[in-house]
Amino acid sequence: MTCTVEALGLYKVYPGGVEAVKGVDITARSGRTSLMGPNGSGKTTTLSMIAGALKPTRGSVTVCGYDVWGAEWLDARRKIGYAPQDMPFRVRLSGMDNLVWYGLLKGLSLGEARRRARELAEVLDMGDYLGRSVASYSGGMRRRLSIAAAMMGYPEVLILDEPASGLDPRAREELWRLIEVTLKDVLVIYSTHIPEEAARHSNMVYIFNEGVVAASGSPEELISRYSPKPKIIVYTREDVEPIRVDGLEPQVISRGIYMYTVDDPSQGVRMIVDAYSIRGAPIERVETRKPGLEEVFFTVTGRRLEEVEA
Ligand SMILES: Nc1ncnc2c1ncn2[C@@H]1O[C@H](COP(=O)(O)OP(=O)(O)OP(=O)(O)O)[C@@H](O)[C@H]1O
Ligand SMILES: [Mg+2]
Repeated sequence: MTCTVEALGLYKVYPGGVEAVKGVDITARSGRTSLMGPNGSGKTTTLSMIAGALKPTRGSVTVCGYDVWGAEWLDARRKIGYAPQDMPFRVRLSGMDNLVWYGLLKGLSLGEARRRARELAEVLDMGDYLGRSVASYSGGMRRRLSIAAAMMGYPEVLILDEPASGLDPRAREELWRLIEVTLKDVLVIYSTHIPEEAARHSNMVYIFNEGVVAASGSPEELISRYSPKPKIIVYTREDVEPIRVDGLEPQVISRGIYMYTVDDPSQGVRMIVDAYSIRGAPIERVETRKPGLEEVFFTVTGRRLEEVEA
């Protein structure tokens, strides 16, 4: 039986007055829950309050029925494994020594910690890296070590802050494959600013924007509620006005870049290309965007993820 995580009315003001999180509710009952949003939207602040690492200004968190910020905090924290965005390792020591250290902190004996470290390195496919110094690890190997470190205490809830950041798409997928096999019965809550990652690897997504949850639901629910139709984006010259195509109203992204919402993408592309060529307007490029969480973010916030990340 997996346990549940419930965060209610989380609110955090940092010293200096930054309101980083402004009333966030999160419930995770099973599977993978992602917090998706741009830089500075409050994901790390929220995750560390859930993990028991940062005290909320207001609000409550319960994990497996224990109050993380109340008298039962120790019981709650025993259930939690937490890999922060930048897990602190002693980089001149080996991966094994680092894992053993985390194991001892979680109350394992030396022998148990070594056994557990070997077992996790095996499932996370770390080869013989365990004996090498962490300083020699690639980004992907270091991410695996972070997950192993967070798993040392046999947690029921694993909190991962940007587990795949800095990895290329292939390495990211490989890491997720390992996470899925390693953590079948563990509840995972993680953050990402990559919409495809949230869509592929979570059954529940919380979309963060400026310290609040702008929308939440399964990827499918979010897409069907907020952005169910494909879009076609036309790149033309800046001096070309947007053209209305047989009932399709263009949305202006910027001068020379126009977006159309369509039912059938291939028919839409044909109609749009025809309409522009009849007017003698040169098309440099046409892009089709399938409905996705990126579009959902745009619909609920009026902002583009890549714009706000810059
Ligand atoms: N220790 C701190 N002191 C003051 N302000 C902070 C502190 N940590 C974060 N903030 C601010 O709180 C807001 C939320 O930051 P947070 O790190 O939670 O965002 P995030 O969504 O995790 O961003 P990223 O994608 O960059 O990791 C930002 O405005 C940030 O500058
Ligand atoms: Mg963060």
